[in-house]
Order: sequence, then structure tokens, then C-alpha cells
Amino acid sequence: MTFDVNRVRAAYPALSDGYAYLDGAAGTQVPAAVIEAIAAAYRSGIGNVGGTFPASGRSGSIVAECRQALADLTGGSPDGVILGPNMTTLTYRLAEALSRGWEPADEIVVSRLDHDANIRPWVQAAARRGATVRWAEVDLATTELPAAQYAGLLSERTRLVAVTAASNVVGTRPDLAAIAAAAHAVGALVYVDGVHATPHVPVDVKALGADFYATSAYKWSGPHIGTVVAEPALLETVHPDKLAPAPAGVPRRFERGTAAFADLAGVIAAVEHLASLAPGPDPASGSRRQRVLASMAAVEEYETRLFARLLDGLGAMKHVTLYGRAASRAPTAYFTVAGQSPRQVAEHLAARQVNVWNGDNYAWELAGALGLRDSGGAVRAGLVHYNDQAEVDRLLASVDELA
Ligand SMILES: Cc1ncc(COP(=O)(O)O)c(C=O)c1O
Repeated sequence: MTFDVNRVRAAYPALSDGYAYLDGAAGTQVPAAVIEAIAAAYRSGIGNVGGTFPASGRSGSIVAECRQALADLTGGSPDGVILGPNMTTLTYRLAEALSRGWEPADEIVVSRLDHDANIRPWVQAAARRGATVRWAEVDLATTELPAAQYAGLLSERTRLVAVTAASNVVGTRPDLAAIAAAAHAVGALVYVDGVHATPHVPVDVKALGADFYATSAYKWSGPHIGTVVAEPALLETVHPDKLAPAPAGVPRRFERGTAAFADLAGVIAAVEHLASLAPGPDPASGSRRQRVLASMAAVEEYETRLFARLLDGLGAMKHVTLYGRAASRAPTAYFTVAGQSPRQVAEHLAARQVNVWNGDNYAWELAGALGLRDSGGAVRAGLVHYNDQAEVDRLLASVDELA
């Protein structure tokens, strides 16, 4: 399986503006196929779902195909795909619904590694129910989230474990299968934040042990749409607030109001795009699930190689402090530069047409634990499949100027 980054880059109109888009961890650019799919949905005429006329039927088909595409991406089942505006909104919705049954003696486990969107909704829900929150800690020397600590955090009172598949700042990919196995052994549910991991690795929700897997399409070349994937049988046991006339079945009862139908057409195109990033000898062969898995394996290999170049380059600079040392990690660098605030570094880079982020990036607990939160966080440079060596080298040369 070959990975031709020039072919990949040519699919993205926005990449021709001369900037190095190393800000993908905050949202990726969108290929022409996704833009066209959204435009085509509007051009063909779409209506609200459930009507008697063809335009309504087209929206219904888009929704069904979108659920199938997200099932193909994650290894879940289409009837368990909840669609919504973004991960944060859906996680608050699930936290509200799942916490209904929690009692004061109950416990949940959150992690200091996570984006706040997979912490605060659970902490706030636990506070409402009087339940206890236990914290899985990051080993700051390694930035690992040791799975072994969960044995001491879990009990027969644990109702839920919320944990990320990858840190959005230091990239750490915890041993989710081990954490999930420990959680399941005490009967707890596992809610996985897959927002940062999904663009970088093949995803199999069953292998991860995720009862709920959240991801956002705008992090992997799609529009601003979020999803949570779960087993339909599990969703049948959960009863969120809903309008009286709104559908009562699963997964529809978790979806509030009218969906962004044209954007959902863009999600289908984005999954197809991921499946075609590294085409096999016969691009049409295999199911979309098989093509996604093979293509994302090639993406992971390509990004890992490019990331090594970025880390080696930054690591060799005496004026740079790198955070993030986990053995298994997404290609995301988090660093500070001596004598410069993270904002100043980001401005310096922007002036050289290199897009990066500065701050805590909502990894609020981790930034606090690393002692970075009150000093403006750090600089984040994240790679995705459309980044190339020239962009990494431009970042390195620009940071080197700050020595
Ligand atoms: C790891 C992670 N989780 C959750 C979120 C929140 O996602 P959304 O913007 O879809 O609410 C982000 C967004 O940056 C993220 O990086």
C-alpha cells in the first residue's frame, strides 16, 4: 500500500494558499469531494425527513448512508450511530441521560489526560447526583496514562469510565483495551473520546472496548458534525429527554431537532476520502470498512515517519522544551520556546505562513498538571495525512530562528 502525499494534497483546494496547515488537531481542511457532496445535496433539493416527496426521501437516504459510513469508519453498527453537531454537545447529552440512574454511593472515573469535553460533562453530572469522581492521573515524566492504576480506581460502585483514545496535546494513546477490560470486569461503561485518535489510526470500537465512541468529522476532513457510536441494545436502555412528537426509537431519540442534512452528505464523502487515501492495487476492491482500515494503517505509518522528523528536529534545539513522551502516540507535538510566550511563537510562525495553536487547547487538567496552564499553555503542531516534509522543515527552520 503506497502513500502518495502529493496526490493527497491535490485533493484539498485550501492547501494551495501557501500556508503550512499544522493546525489539523483543531480542525482539518476539507477536500473538494466533500465540498462537492455538500453542494450537490443542496443542488439536488433536500427536504426534512419523513415526508411524501422525493426531496424528503433524499434527506432520509443521506441520514441512512451517513450512519453506515460512520459504522464503516469505526467498526460500529449503523443503528447505533448518533448524529449531532459536535462531540461536546453529544457528550453533555449522554452525560445527562446516563447519569439519571446514578446514586450518591456511585462512582465514575475520569482522566487527567483528557480534553475537557470528556471530563466536565461527567464531573458536573456526578455533582448533580452526589456521585464520587475518581481521577486517573498522568505520569508526568512519561506523559503515559498507566492502565494499571485503574485497578485501584474501580469498584463495584463504578458506573462509568471516561477516557480518551489520544491526547489532543501530547498525543498519548492509552492502553484502552486494558482499561476497558478492567472497567467491564466491575460492570462499568466505557465512554471513549475518539476525537483526536480517529484521524490518525484505524479504529475498531469493539477491539478498544468502547461502549460509546465519540468523534467529530471536522477533525478528519469532513464538515462540523459529531457522532457517538454505541451498540443499539445499549442505547435501548438509555432514555434522554426528548420532545413528545420526536421519534422514540434508537438512535433517533438521542438526536435533537433537525439534522444538518447537507453536511451529513459531506461526512459520507469524508469517510470515502479516508478510505481512498492509500488505494490498494484495485481501488474499488474490498468493502468500505476494509478499505478504511487499510488506508488508515498506511496513514498511521506515513504520519509516524513524518512525526519522527518533527520530533527529532525540535528535540535537537536547546531552546525548545518538548512535552509528550508516550510510547504510543498520535503525531502531535506540544512544546515551549525559551524566552517566548506560546502566543509569541505562534505569531512568529504565522508570519512565516505556518499555522499552529497555542494555549491549553482545552486539555485543561493536563496543562494544569504540567504547570503550563497559567503561563499560556504551550505551542501545538499537529500532523495529519496531508502534511508533508517541506511543511515540517519550514516549522523547524522558523522555530530555529528563535534560538
Ligand atoms: C480530544 C478532543 N476531544 C473533544 C473535543 C471537542 O470536540 P468538539 O469540537 O467536536 O466538541 C476536541 C476538540 O478539539 C478534542 O480535540
